[in-house]
Amino acid sequence: MTISNQPGKVVPSGLIHRYRDLLPEMPDSAITTIGEGRTPLIEAPKVAAGIGPDVRLFLKFEGLNPTASFKDRGMTVAMSRARAMGMRACICASTGNTAASAAAYAARAGMECFVMVPAGKIALGKAVQVLAHGARIIQINGNFDAALRLSKKAVERRSDIALVNSVNPDRIQGQKTAAFEVCESLGGAPDYLTLPVGNAGNITAYWKGFTEWHAAGNADSTPTVLGFQAAGSAPLVAGHDIENPETVASAIRIGSPASKAGAITAVEESGGAIEAVTDDEILEAQSMLASAEGVFCEPASAAGIAGLLKLAREGRAPSGTIVSILTGHGLKDPDVILNRTKLPEPVEATFEAVSGVMERRIESSERA
Ligand code: F0G
Repeated sequence: MTISNQPGKVVPSGLIHRYRDLLPEMPDSAITTIGEGRTPLIEAPKVAAGIGPDVRLFLKFEGLNPTASFKDRGMTVAMSRARAMGMRACICASTGNTAASAAAYAARAGMECFVMVPAGKIALGKAVQVLAHGARIIQINGNFDAALRLSKKAVERRSDIALVNSVNPDRIQGQKTAAFEVCESLGGAPDYLTLPVGNAGNITAYWKGFTEWHAAGNADSTPTVLGFQAAGSAPLVAGHDIENPETVASAIRIGSPASKAGAITAVEESGGAIEAVTDDEILEAQSMLASAEGVFCEPASAAGIAGLLKLAREGRAPSGTIVSILTGHGLKDPDVILNRTKLPEPVEATFEAVSGVMERRIESSERA
């Protein structure tokens, strides 16, 4: 809730209140919100210069949602609807972010929450979030695809448990609102949209959002959608499932995307494509966003930018207005940064010692 300037009046926050007539019905009493949505669209001129001269590039920083990923948009709707239906618990399979989001929204709804994750494969920040919110974490000796199969089975057995993965259409309904926000910020649709693709729920949701916004007469066009998968986990590029997906971008380590059909519709109808980017390209894009634009996203989130830079190197870069979706915050995965760099050794607490460090740094940056 945010306090308005009229004493005694409280303006409800969250995307359900904003887009109520474009979302599934639910009673007020079931609405579960932590103020998700309204994330900034940040212009990124330095990265744009590396893509092409006729590019205006904007980053939709979804890492600024309440649990630091885009999952909160879908979770507010899925959890509110589960509550409205009288569910007693919820479950999800996750590479980490869905788990963190489900844990937070379930805590707020007062609902039991089970999250099933590949053991040892989710980023530290996400595991910490699940623990903080008090969800039951079930680590399996298997990957995300196995966890999703098991979660689906669990809800087949018990009708009072809601599955809050993106196979739940309420998740897609909530996530489509990001497309509305992009159009509202730009005063129309961008020419291109780029984003990472894992289980393919989000690309499905964006396309739904852009087409609905266009059909409602709120925008003159829809964007061309370019999705990017990590090269070691790229079933949509290979054209078949990958049994043992691998990538440093743990959020999108998925071999059998549940919303495959939605992803294919998005690229076919928009005239777009799904391509692969290597782990090195992903980490380079993550690093460039952080060091040149001041925007710190997690590795998977940089896949859309990695893809644009790759297309530019190959002389295939798009031009015009491009929006890239940064799906999660960089603080989710501290290990990826610490594997690359570390804190320097301490120095003596003297002016001589600290000014020596500063002088050396300034000299080396002047030489560079
Ligand atoms: N980016 C991040 C940061 C993610 O966490 C995910 C998916 C994606 C992109 C891909 O989105 O699956 O809709 O294509 N994370 C899921 C999870 C699988 O369990 O948190 P998608």
